[in-house]
This record gives sequence, C-alpha cells and structure tokens, in this order.
Amino acid sequence: MTQIKDNNIKNDFPIFKQAKVKKRPLVYLDSAATSQKPHSVINAVSDWYERFNANIHRGVYELSETATKKYELSRQVIANFINSPSSRQVVFTRGTTEGINLVAEAWARKNLRAGDAILLTTMEHHANLVPWQELAQRKRLKLKFLEFDNQGELILANLAKQLMGVKLVSLVYVSNVLGTINPVKKIINICHQKKIPVLIDAAQAAPHLPIDVKKLDCDWLVFSGHKMLGPTGIGVLYGKRERFEEMDVYQTGGDMIRNVTLTKSTYATYPQKFEAGTQALAEVVGLAEAVIYLQAIGMERVSSHDQKLVTYAYQQMKKIKAVEIYGPQTIKRSGSIAFNVQGIHAHDLATFLADRGICIRAGHHCAQPLHEKLGIPASARVSFYIYNDKRDVDLFISALQAIIKEWESIKARNT
Ligand SMILES: Cc1ncc(COP(=O)(O)O)c(C=O)c1O
Repeated sequence: MTQIKDNNIKNDFPIFKQAKVKKRPLVYLDSAATSQKPHSVINAVSDWYERFNANIHRGVYELSETATKKYELSRQVIANFINSPSSRQVVFTRGTTEGINLVAEAWARKNLRAGDAILLTTMEHHANLVPWQELAQRKRLKLKFLEFDNQGELILANLAKQLMGVKLVSLVYVSNVLGTINPVKKIINICHQKKIPVLIDAAQAAPHLPIDVKKLDCDWLVFSGHKMLGPTGIGVLYGKRERFEEMDVYQTGGDMIRNVTLTKSTYATYPQKFEAGTQALAEVVGLAEAVIYLQAIGMERVSSHDQKLVTYAYQQMKKIKAVEIYGPQTIKRSGSIAFNVQGIHAHDLATFLADRGICIRAGHHCAQPLHEKLGIPASARVSFYIYNDKRDVDLFISALQAIIKEWESIKARNT
C-alpha cells in the first residue's frame, strides 16, 4: 500500500495538496519540530469521535467497552513497535517532555539522595535538562555532563570515570540539532555494569530508527507521537518492570486508584498508576494508526530513506562555500542538518526561505547550551521525513543559492 518513492508517499498526506505557501506547493523541511499526518491518522481521529467516543475503563455499556478495547489495543500496537515485553510497560503521556518529568518526579525524586549525581550530555533538548535542574535544586543533586567533539559525537573515553557518584543517566538518542545518532546501546551497557539506570530520550529517534527496547536494555524510553506522524498531545513512556515498581505516583486523581476513602487512597498498578484522569483517547488511537502506517513501510526502509535524503542534502549543502554545517561530517546522522550561512542571521535566512515557500526552523531549537558550546546564538535547521523527496532538497538548495547570491550582490553594492 505505502511505498517510498519520490512524489508518491506525499499523496497520503493531505496537507501537501491543501496547503500552499506563497501560492506555491508546500516544501516542508521542519519535521523535527512536528511531522505532517497521513489520511489514515486523520481518519482514525475523526472516526473515534464519529463512531467510538466514550470514556474508557468505566462504562459497562457497549460503546465504552469498545472504546476501552481500542485504547488498550493501541497500547499493544505501541508495545509491538518498540518490542516491549508487555503492553503494561507502555504508559501514555502528553509527550516526551511529560515522560521525562514523570520519571524525574516519580523515580528520581524518590530514589536519589542529596549529593547523588545525574549524568546528561551537553547536546540535550531543554526537555531533558530543565526537569533535572529543577529536581537537582530541590534535592541538592549534582548534574554532570558528557561533552561532544567537533564532529558532534559524544566523547566516551572517560565515561567510566565520569560515572563516579552517578545514580541516573538520561540522554538523547538522536540530537534534534546535530542529527547525531548516539551510541546509546554502548552507553547503557557501561552504565549497567555499574548498576546505573538509563533513560533514553527517543523523541527524534522513534520517527526515524527501528526501536527495540529489549535489545537496548534501557530502563526508560520516551517519545512523542506528533514527531512520528501521530497527533499532538500524546506520547509514550516505556519502562522496565522493576523501574515502574520502584516508582511513586506522578499525578493523582481518577482512574489511577484502587481504593479511595476520605482520608487515604491506594493505587492501581502500572500502567494505570501513571495515567491519572481522562486520557487523550482519540490521540492514542491516532498514534497507533501512525505506527501501523510506519510499520507498513517498515522502519528499516523509513530509516534508509531518511538517511539517503539527509546525505544528499548534506552533500549539496557542502558544495556551497558560505554554508557552515554543524554535527557529524559522515552519514552517521539522522533526520536533520543544522547550519548557518556566513553573514546572514539564521532567522533572516528562515524568513527569506519562507518567502520562497520553504519551511525551515531557525533559533536555538530548545538546545541553548548546545549552541553556546558551538559558540553561536542560533542556527538554521532543515529536517526530513518520509514524505520528503529529492525535489524538496533541490528546491531548498536552489533557494538557498539564490538567497546567498542576492545577499552577496547587496553586500558588494554597499562596499
Ligand atoms: C530530542 C528531543 N527531546 C525532547 C523533545 C520534546 O518533545 P515534546 O515537545 O514533544 O515533548 C524534543 C522536541 O523537539 C526533542 O527534539
């Protein structure tokens, strides 16, 4: 049904037919921020409201029972997608950000003591930095950081030494700026030799790479639905059984309880324990549909398509003298390329490209410390997904060349 061929897969995404930018077809190169949605996901969400909408886990009438089945089946779809040993180990969250906050509050707040250290990297998205800063302040914990080199790759030479005093490691799988694919399996192995649990931020990995939590052996893994063709407002927290068992409650209220009296409550076991209140039901079903769509293509093919496109774009950009690219110079990157053009601020560049109908992102991409380390206030970023093709890259490159040419001639006139 679904094929990754130039111009073919775009047909599954209505936005490419409907949306025009400056009366031109959409050239969308901002999927690292959020992805577009195929018909099947949009239909699954509207179908939910048209045919299945009822609250789950509560009603005894047929509609509610069907809704519950669909919700729990979606959990199984996600569990299969990441090779989780059980669907019970899949908790629905609002996204990566909430998943990390959940682990910080429910596991780290309970299990870490003053003086303990958490190891992060200097390439983290703020979502995997700020919750730990907050917790560190409250509990007098230390934060330590793995640095990256000028190829955008983590420096692991001293990892074993750096793990002294560390009681938790939390790191990004694929950098949302540099596109670096971090060797998380290797890092997890080293940490586990020292019995240190590891949380993986897979926000940019789950859309592009096959994920196997059993093989990775990570303690937790989090991702967001909206970056992988699913709706906004829905994400996943996978956790090992023993970790979930060590965790306190996160939010409290309806649906996560076992028994409530006026003075005391007991709680359900996971996953319900971590899903307080009415969940984003249509979004859960939409996310499962997104996963079904990706699986129909095959994550190996998704990954190879994205890598081919990113490599092609990289090679074309490398030919432009004024362009400076950050991150890996080899093909060991996924999804995105961050760069700057000499003399043009990233925001101006994004605006000039927007005038030509090309959607890219500019700024610090929620990774200010990473930009500080690179010594730049901001970068431009192009990011790709399965609906992008060579033509999108060519349009971007020719627009980029035209902007640089125009800019240079203005400069020449003014000097
Ligand atoms: C690597 C990484 N981590 C975390 C996040 C936060 O994701 P969300 O805003 O969906 O919670 C993002 C979003 O861009 C990201 O790229």
